[in-house]
Amino acid sequence: MEIGLLGATGPAGRAMALRLAAVGIDVVVGSRSAGRAAEVVAQLLERHPDRDLSIRSGDNAEAAACDLVIIATPWDVAPEVASTVAGHLGRKVVVCMSNALARVAGEFQPLVPPRGSVSANVQAVVPDAYVAAAMHHVPATELAAIDEEVQSDVLICSDHPWAIETVSRLVERIPGARPLDAGRLSNATAIEAFTAVLLQLNTRYGTRVAVRFTGIDD
Ligand SMILES: NC(=O)c1ccc[n+]([C@@H]2O[C@H](COP(=O)([O-])OP(=O)(O)OC[C@H]3O[C@@H](n4cnc5c(N)ncnc54)[C@H](OP(=O)(O)O)[C@@H]3O)[C@@H](O)[C@H]2O)c1
Repeated sequence: MEIGLLGATGPAGRAMALRLAAVGIDVVVGSRSAGRAAEVVAQLLERHPDRDLSIRSGDNAEAAACDLVIIATPWDVAPEVASTVAGHLGRKVVVCMSNALARVAGEFQPLVPPRGSVSANVQAVVPDAYVAAAMHHVPATELAAIDEEVQSDVLICSDHPWAIETVSRLVERIPGARPLDAGRLSNATAIEAFTAVLLQLNTRYGTRVAVRFTGIDD
């Protein structure tokens, strides 16, 4: 399986690309600019000369042509970016990891987009895709530290059970990450908004928190 990331030149996309490649998945780093994507891929590969990472670069359309697609853009442009490559996304699992947040006077605050979540807005513009919301709470720094385990639960929600199943199998491949089926896409509202709480905790306690739920057997 080849996975394409849209807007993967930012911290979240770069980290996700690295982490997936580290577990043997073929990855395409996508960008509005193929040149920028190529620079990012060169940097990622240079940083890990000892690893055999299958990461190549392309524009967002090339990334969207992959078997599974991850959107790693800022929340307000995620639906627009998805719509520009909509022709590639039909009947594919599309993961949206964008959080709608604002930083106001040093405080993280959740924003609620019109359909309740970024993921629901993406699903609306690509109705033939199987959109799943996932990976919102794993900080890019931990994700990019591929020599260490991630140590986090990953909440996944979608209106398509097959998408939850597919993304769960993917998350299971990441050492230390545990996928949890969090239900339908309506729950993305809470999942995305909760990121503001985690970031606030990081600020307050000078750390990087991760989410672990008790009471669920592995
Ligand atoms: N950073 C984290 O730790 C983390 C963890 C989990 C989830 N997330 C979520 O992941 C998303 C991406 O985070 P990030 O920190 O990587 O974001 P970012 O650096 O602000 O943006 C990521 C990429 O999106 C593309 N982009 C930016 N503005 C755009 C526009 N107007 N139109 C189209 N594409 C645009 C850019 O790629 P090109 O210019 O190359 O196209 C950019 O490099 C956010 O929604 C965030 O909430 C972040």
